[in-house]
Amino acid sequence: MNNTIKFLKKTVTVQPEIGLILGSGLGVLAEEIENPVKIPYDEIPGFPVSTVEGHAGQLVIGTLQGKQVITMQGRFHYYEGYSLERVTFPIRVMKELGVKSLIVTNAAGGINETFTPGDLMIITDHINNFGDNPLIGPNDPAQGVRFPDMSTAYNKKLVKLAKEVAHTLEIPVKEGVYVGNTGPSYETPAEIRMLRFFGGDAVGMSTVPEVIVAKHCDLEVLGISCISNMAAGILDQPLTHEEVIETTEMVRANFLSFVKEIVKE
Ligand code: 6GU
Repeated sequence: MNNTIKFLKKTVTVQPEIGLILGSGLGVLAEEIENPVKIPYDEIPGFPVSTVEGHAGQLVIGTLQGKQVITMQGRFHYYEGYSLERVTFPIRVMKELGVKSLIVTNAAGGINETFTPGDLMIITDHINNFGDNPLIGPNDPAQGVRFPDMSTAYNKKLVKLAKEVAHTLEIPVKEGVYVGNTGPSYETPAEIRMLRFFGGDAVGMSTVPEVIVAKHCDLEVLGISCISNMAAGILDQPLTHEEVIETTEMVRANFLSFVKEIVKE
């Protein structure tokens, strides 16, 4: 961690206040950043290296809507073989660099049958279905408490702000509960029925570990899912990663203006 921070502080002189994690197909937002400093993950000491297609794998640091931001263009997934501690390492790094608020985005499958592919969903809560937790192991009290409260993980003020922004921009948004699964296989129809019964509205393979660590180190979190497809058993068609990428590209314009306005506000 010390090496990572030393390297990043040497490379970037601005202090970011907002962190952004861009999910599959949503990395274009990083291209809107002014005076960007781009640092590929494999050039950062201590950083894992991303392997999944559709992810550029770099930090982009600069100005967005007049705010200093640090963006992960591509994230690390548990299914790539990293421990959850490694997956969430960049959150700790953002905290060390001075970030106060974190916007986490992802592509997710719709469980809620009133959703349509292309919908944006503000995450109001999550279900950790990873069967693992990034905080397992010794706790460093300098980073956070042993037993973090998760009842306020998704910041209510930010949810309200996001809803107001959506209303102003006339972008229709849904709200709901995100279920985090390990992947990399998508769920079966029976698993989706179970997750719906449990109260899930959307399902994906990320976000939950990052939000747990963000809460541990006291960051304010806003989560946004792009519903890229309906989950298994809802439509009579198989799920593919191509569909996920295609849909996220389709909603790109709405997603971009939505997140940019939230950053501004
Ligand atoms: Cl249907 N499931 C999971 N686990 N992740 C997804 C997805 C579904 N659609 C996009 N990402």
